[in-house]
Amino acid sequence: MERIVVISCTNRPDSYTLKVCKAYLNVLKDLGKEAILLDFRELPLEQMIGENFGKSTPLFTGLVHSYVQPHSKFVFVAPEYNGSYPGILKLFLDTVPPREWTHKKACLVGVSQGRAGNLRGMEHLTGVLQYLKMHVFYNKLPVSAVDKVVKEDGSFIAEEQGRACTEQIKGFLSF
Ligand SMILES: Cc1cc2nc3c(=O)[nH]c(=O)nc-3n(C[C@H](O)[C@H](O)[C@H](O)COP(=O)(O)O)c2cc1C
Repeated sequence: MERIVVISCTNRPDSYTLKVCKAYLNVLKDLGKEAILLDFRELPLEQMIGENFGKSTPLFTGLVHSYVQPHSKFVFVAPEYNGSYPGILKLFLDTVPPREWTHKKACLVGVSQGRAGNLRGMEHLTGVLQYLKMHVFYNKLPVSAVDKVVKEDGSFIAEEQGRACTEQIKGFLSF
């Protein structure tokens, strides 16, 4: 069965982004889909910086082989940091060999405590992913005031938000 990769695009400890990822994993499970989590807290940052300059490290290559190469659908859950998506996500995209993304599909979720739900960051990310020849799903979902809509365990406080996430994922599965 096809596995969906849910990417928590920050390494900030105790991030709301990770909680939203848990919510998406629950939604996918309820829909009978297999999904795995790529948590950016696990990224080998020092090796990745070296990787960018031509060195290849088994740790990062292994990560690409586990989380990117065999899969074709990715849910990028990206918090709003200074009006865009986090730098660690750009480093990740700059480090994975570009061919690994070609013609694969991306679903975008923006996360913020403010009102914008990282709308602008999702547009920035769309440009980069399309540069990498990815197909970006048209329904990009902002999750704003995140502390008021999702709990620690990934359950929704706000039912409306839960419904919006489920509808987004249903659409992405048939995209
Ligand atoms: C470095 C940094 C920059 C941030 N910039 C913004 C911002 O531009 N707009 C906003 O609404 N929230 C901003 N926030 C708050 C985040 O949206 C908030 O922490 C939210 O919970 C999502 O981030 P998290 O997944 O790290 O928890 C920022 C947080 C950090 C750590």
